[in-house]
Amino acid sequence: MALHTALRRRNLEFHLLLRCLSAASAVATASPSAILSPSNPSAILTAKQKSRAALSLLKSETDPSRIVDICRAAALTSASHLDRVALSSAISKLSSSLCFSAIRSLVDDLLLSSKDHNPRFLSHAIVLFGQAGMLDDALRAFRSSPSCSSLNSLLFACILSKNHSELAKIFRDYPTTYGVTPNLETYNIVIRSFAESGTTRSFYSVFEEMRKRNFKPNTTTFCNTLEGFYRELRFDEVERVLELMKKHDCHPGLTTCNVRIQALCKIGRSEQAKDLFREMVKSGMKPSWVTYNHLITGFCKEGNLNEAKRLYKEMRSKGCVAESGVYFTLIHYLCKDGDFEAALGVCEDTMARNWVPCFAIMEMPVNGLASSSKVGEAKDLIKKVKERFPKGSEMWKEVEDGMQ
Ligand SMILES: *[C@@H]1O[C@H](CO)[C@@H](O)[C@H](O)[C@H]1NC(C)=O
Ligand SMILES: *[C@@H]1O[C@H](CO)[C@@H](O)[C@H](O)[C@H]1NC(C)=O
Repeated sequence: MALHTALRRRNLEFHLLLRCLSAASAVATASPSAILSPSNPSAILTAKQKSRAALSLLKSETDPSRIVDICRAAALTSASHLDRVALSSAISKLSSSLCFSAIRSLVDDLLLSSKDHNPRFLSHAIVLFGQAGMLDDALRAFRSSPSCSSLNSLLFACILSKNHSELAKIFRDYPTTYGVTPNLETYNIVIRSFAESGTTRSFYSVFEEMRKRNFKPNTTTFCNTLEGFYRELRFDEVERVLELMKKHDCHPGLTTCNVRIQALCKIGRSEQAKDLFREMVKSGMKPSWVTYNHLITGFCKEGNLNEAKRLYKEMRSKGCVAESGVYFTLIHYLCKDGDFEAALGVCEDTMARNWVPCFAIMEMPVNGLASSSKVGEAKDLIKKVKERFPKGSEMWKEVEDGMQ
């Protein structure tokens, strides 16, 4: 019953917003007089409101034809960050529904058919095709206007579609075939491809080529390499690269430390990451919330919740404020571990920052508290969430009813 109501309301919201979006984009392409005196002033959305509305609609939309409608109605482009995020989310949904021809016409119409050839739009189109695994379309887009930046997008598209052999071929042949000169970013993308495909050792030959052509490597060059060698468990090579960094005036700082700590946590060696963290602190470097994020996530995944909680406490005591995701990760794992009280503590910290986790995350501690006969705490939590998000009250009804 509650589900029915919610669905009906969503349907209504969809149509209302779609109408607003269409009106807004019609206004955007209309003559100046139509913009100055629109027939329905309440329907006008600013560009930002329009992108936000599209993004929020896309978040919960699964129907491919509606996804296409939203993108077209909002006339999404690559001009703003919000639009890029919205388009990327639409393309990944369409590609998991295997709607490739819809992706092709959408990207062609929204990004590639504008009269004033925008290099930023072209690059984004190439990347979106890569994201959908449509490399032939990415190649077609590149050929329409070859340049260093479109080449870099094409190489990146190969990484996104996990086609590393195609990347190697393009890197070898295209600069000559299309008369394009690679830059440092080109090399960094190629090295990233090695690191992601388990062939990090190829770094050394590309590094030689960079040096011959007088390209000065930067932190990204080395961090990509370090990540790859960690993933391949080549700790001897990690040391070698760290030495190479110093030799090339790229002294490992916080960014490098964070990359190494994350890489160790990813391969399930959080203890080793913590050793590195201790060394880093001892040498006078100040860890950032990113450092704590990697460690907390790493220990959570390895099931060492005590260490995760300890690091969380330490992070707070140092006044580090992390991104909301760190808190939500911790809440999730604490609940999985049955430690609802600790999860409640973290929930309260996030609410003090005005970040209220979404229903899916909050449902776990609430139900956990209720089932461990802490119904009072559970109800308190719901009350606080409702105070912040009066709009979401409906969703909690079922949970509350179950608690009577
Ligand atoms: C890589 O991309 C090329 C060009 O689209 C394609 O012919 C080839 O089959 C792809 N290889 C893999 C492993 O997907
Ligand atoms: C390294 O250079 C590339 C290409 O110019 C750039 O995109 C990247 O941000 C640089 N990395 C750092 C850490 O500055």
